[in-house]
Amino acid sequence: MPYVEFSESFLQELADRNDIVDVVGSYVRLTKRSGANLFGLCPFHNEKTPSFSVAPDRQIYHCFGCGKGGSVISFIMEIENLSFPDAVAFLARRAGMELPEGNSGDREQSRQRERLLALNREAARFFFAELTRPGGLPAQNYIRKRQISLEMVKRFGLGFAPDNFYSLTNAMRAKGFTEQELITGGLANANKGGKGVHDVFRNRLMFPVIDIRGNVIGFSGRILGDGEPKYLNSRETPVFNKSRNLFGLNLAKKSKSGYLLLAEGNIDVVSLHQAGFDGAVASLGTSLTPDQARLISRHTREVVIAYDNDGAGQKAAQRAIGIFRDLDVSVRVLQMEGAKDPDEFIKAKGSDAFRALIEASKSDVEYRLRTAEGHYDLGDDEQKVAYLKEAAGIIAQLESPVEREVYAMRLADRAGVDKAVLRDEINRGRKKDYYREKKKEDRDAARSLSRSVQPRDRNLRYENERSALAEEGVVRLMYCDPTLFEGVTLEPEDFSSPLLGRVYALLRERAASHSGLSPAVLSGMFTPEEEAHITEVLNKTEILANAKRALADYIGVIRSEQQALTAQQDLRAFAASQRNKKGYGG
Ligand code: GTP
Ligand code: MN
Repeated sequence: MPYVEFSESFLQELADRNDIVDVVGSYVRLTKRSGANLFGLCPFHNEKTPSFSVAPDRQIYHCFGCGKGGSVISFIMEIENLSFPDAVAFLARRAGMELPEGNSGDREQSRQRERLLALNREAARFFFAELTRPGGLPAQNYIRKRQISLEMVKRFGLGFAPDNFYSLTNAMRAKGFTEQELITGGLANANKGGKGVHDVFRNRLMFPVIDIRGNVIGFSGRILGDGEPKYLNSRETPVFNKSRNLFGLNLAKKSKSGYLLLAEGNIDVVSLHQAGFDGAVASLGTSLTPDQARLISRHTREVVIAYDNDGAGQKAAQRAIGIFRDLDVSVRVLQMEGAKDPDEFIKAKGSDAFRALIEASKSDVEYRLRTAEGHYDLGDDEQKVAYLKEAAGIIAQLESPVEREVYAMRLADRAGVDKAVLRDEINRGRKKDYYREKKKEDRDAARSLSRSVQPRDRNLRYENERSALAEEGVVRLMYCDPTLFEGVTLEPEDFSSPLLGRVYALLRERAASHSGLSPAVLSGMFTPEEEAHITEVLNKTEILANAKRALADYIGVIRSEQQALTAQQDLRAFAASQRNKKGYGG
């Protein structure tokens, strides 16, 4: 559903005060420059080479890989998963602008989000206050037992959920939150058999989950001591999505260490920060998701995995390596000996020992070689050959020849085989990979070629490709230089693509009133699919030097296609009438 409830001047000002390069830049590292455009890795699909572009002059973004594109507003809609009015409100807040009055429209959803965020914030305050009260003694004792410092309690905003069914519920009701809000916010459950609600979190040490903007979005509650379940996490709510957030990222994103430390447990994260490793985060009780990895990749290029030292932890590390590889984040894996997790390791051996562990941590290649080695009995010749084949395959995946050489040498030494033989094996592996990659790239290229004519969204399919391409050209020219409209008799009805016809009509209207059409205004008038396509059309280069001539050519194509169509229709009508005649005659 398109929205048209904000005035154009407001949207224009909003766009002016939220430069697309700044806004996108806070989510995507724009590393490459090509012509006037900036490029980075697309935040909307997995890729290794940047095909996501931002055009500062036109204030639009476009991904050549997945086809997403639009203005700064549609970027925020997409990346923050917000509706159009919510994205507008988000950007207004960012730029310190007041939202226009009486322009509330479909603001219900954003009002609900605001309420739930306020509720979570109040709940965090409540839990923190409870911790300091006499009733919080059990939690205080537990914190002491886990050797968590007061400083960390404050930094993470830890708290205590009292051993009572109604303490949070009552406190929040007194602050004006409704029972429904408490339920929707995941902090209360409805009582069995009808009336009232009760607290979800009881007698637990509370860890607020805080997003990168500093909003409390949910909680993790740990039982004080042993028992089941050890952790209780907020359920999914309109503001809390476990698979898209990480515990501690609000703090870790400010780390100057140059890497993020990925641990399993909340306690590990607190303990790591306390020991000076302020880049520590943990996924929220799930194994790492691609969304979380992408979130991490927006903040760092290097991750050190410090998972638990058990089978499950090691398996999870393998999985995480695979996910990060796709994102071009380099991964090292810590090998902790004699402790089950980072918390225990630091308590037993101190933070210097942990730092040494990080420094000695294996690159993911070495880690994978080591893991593979564990699967074979190297005393057995056949198994040794199988191991070397697997190992050569792992090394073959390295892009840098220097790195390949280093690992090949190391492996040859360790396994006691001839370097040259190993090198051959690695080269064979590379050829295989090369052809596999090449095939895939050819396939992708073929697909994108056929796609470059047709819109990606099937609903927008061009009926007449030849005409539509010319129509695209007209729209592009008119967008860049509205004075070209003078003396042009082309009508929106002449367009074979209804969407391009609509854009043309809009542009003409603007030209008549001497106002331009900003991409931000477009966002409110078209669906995201339509907008992405329009952006793609506008993003193609058009050489303006010969604009009048080009325009005439385009219009010529549109007209001739139109005539061809009319002729065809005439022919069809004629054929039909002939058939009818025959019918009469026969
Ligand atoms: P300690 O044993 O006190 O060191 O706990 P920890 O914080 O290190 O957590 P642990 O390594 O046991 O678990 C890792 C993470 O998995 C926790 O931080 C939770 O997010 C999650 N988790 C653990 N137990 C449960 C559970 O019973 N239920 C759910 N939903 N999540 C859990
Ligand atoms: Mn643990």
